[in-house]
Amino acid sequence: ASHFAGVSLDPNDLKAQQKALDLVLQDFDVSAERMGAIVDQFNSEMRKGLAAPKATVAMIPSFVTGKPTGEETGRYLALDLGGTNLRVCEFSLLGQGEYKVHQQKYVISDELKTGDMRNLCDFIADCVDNFVTENGSDSLESNLQLGFTFSFPVLQTEINRGTLIQWTKGFNCTNAVGKDVVVLLQDAFLRKNVNVHIAALVNDTVGTLMAHAYKYPETSMGVILGTGTNAAYYEKLNSIKKWEGGAVAFDDMVVNMEWGAFDNERRVLPLTIYDNKLDRESINPRQQIFEKMISGMYLGEIARNALLQLVDRLLLFKGVSSPELNKQWCFETAYMSAISSDTSEDLEETQHILEAVMQIPSTSLMDREMVKQVCIAVGRRAARLSACGIAAVISQQGSIGQDTLVAIDGSVYEFYPNFENDMTQGLTDLFGEKDGSCVRFALARDGSGLGAAIIAMMSHKAAKLKAG
Ligand code: GLC
Repeated sequence: ASHFAGVSLDPNDLKAQQKALDLVLQDFDVSAERMGAIVDQFNSEMRKGLAAPKATVAMIPSFVTGKPTGEETGRYLALDLGGTNLRVCEFSLLGQGEYKVHQQKYVISDELKTGDMRNLCDFIADCVDNFVTENGSDSLESNLQLGFTFSFPVLQTEINRGTLIQWTKGFNCTNAVGKDVVVLLQDAFLRKNVNVHIAALVNDTVGTLMAHAYKYPETSMGVILGTGTNAAYYEKLNSIKKWEGGAVAFDDMVVNMEWGAFDNERRVLPLTIYDNKLDRESINPRQQIFEKMISGMYLGEIARNALLQLVDRLLLFKGVSSPELNKQWCFETAYMSAISSDTSEDLEETQHILEAVMQIPSTSLMDREMVKQVCIAVGRRAARLSACGIAAVISQQGSIGQDTLVAIDGSVYEFYPNFENDMTQGLTDLFGEKDGSCVRFALARDGSGLGAAIIAMMSHKAAKLKAG
C-alpha cells in the first residue's frame, strides 16, 4: 500500500489499479438526473439565444425557409470548409431526391489555418479554379452558382452574406473575425478570375438537414458529430424573437444553434479535471465547452489526460509513458474508436496502438483493459451529452413523443462504436422507453455539400424570380 495519496508504490497492485480506474470511470458518468438538468439549462439558453442578438448559444437564423421539394434540378457547385479537408463538389440535382456528384478534396495546411485570411481565400479560389477546369464545369455555364459551406459561427445577414463571429476547431486566421466571409471569398475569386458566384452561405448542420430533407422531407433536425459538433433545426419564425428580416414566405426557418458553446459558463456540464486541462491548454480557452466534451477534435485529448494521470500515479504502464503519449493532441480519437471496438481476448489491436503507435515500452493486459474502459467511458459521455442537445431541441419543438427524424453526419457518429446506441439509451433515460424510441437517427454522409448545392439552387431561383 502507498504512503502517498493516490500513488501506488507497487507496480503490480491490481486492486489499486482497479480502484483508480473505477474512480475515473465514475468521473465520466452522466446520470439520468444530471442529463435532465442539462436539458433544462439547454432549453433556457435556447430561449435566450432566440431573443437576444448576442447569447452563449447563438441560435442564428439561417435565412433558409421552407423544405426542399425533392424536385429541385440543375448543376451547382458546393464548397465545404470547416472539417479536416477542403472539399469542392459539383452536384447535378436530378429531382426526386436523386443527384450525381463529382468531388475533390484538398488538404489545408496548418499554416493556412492560422495565417492571413486572404491567403486562405486565395488558396480556396485556386482549388475551385483547378476543380472547374479539370471537371470541365467552366464550359457549362457562363456563371456558375456555388453554395459555400463555412462551418463556423457566422452571423448571417442574408442568404449569401454573413460575418464571422469567431473561429473554432483549431482555425485562427487573422483579418477574418467581424468580416463578411462571402465578400472575402468572392473578392479572391475576382482576383483570380474565377467566374463563380457565391449564391449561398451555409453552415454544415443546415446543409446536412437540407440534404436529408431533399429525400426525406420529414427530417426536422441536422446534427454534426465530427471534428466539431453543432445542430440546426426548424424553428417557428414567431419564436425567433430577435428576427428583424421582415416577412418571409414560410412560417419556419432553419436555425443554426452553435450549440458547441453551450454552458461556457460551466453551470451544469459535468466537467472533470481532464476537461479543464484540455480547455486551459487549447487555443480557445473557456470557449466551445460542450463541443470540447463531444467532438472528434477533442476526445482523444481528454482520454490522454486521464491516462497520463493514471501513469503519474504509477497505476498504468508501470508508471512509464512515452514521448508520443506525452505530446498534446497526439492520442487521436480514431485510436479510441479502434480500441473501444477491440474484442480480441488479448486486446491485440489495443496493444498495437499503445506499443507500436504510441511507443509505450510495455503494457499488461490489465493496462490495456484500463485504456479500453477509459476510451469507452469518454465516448459514452459524449453520446449522452449529444442526446441532451437533441432532447432539448425536441422539447423546444414541442414534439416529445412524436416521430422525429434526425440527420447526422460526422466521424464520431459514423465510426465510434456504440455511439448511436448510447445516444438512444440517453434519450430513453430522459424521455422514457416509449417517447425515447420515437427518435430516429439517420447517417447523412457528406450531406453538407449536397445541402449547400440545394440551398444555392433555392437562393438562385429566388433571386431570378425577384429580378423578373
Ligand atoms: C463548430 C462550428 C460550427 C459547426 C460545427 C461542426 O462548432 O462553430 O459552425 O457547425 O463545428 O462542424
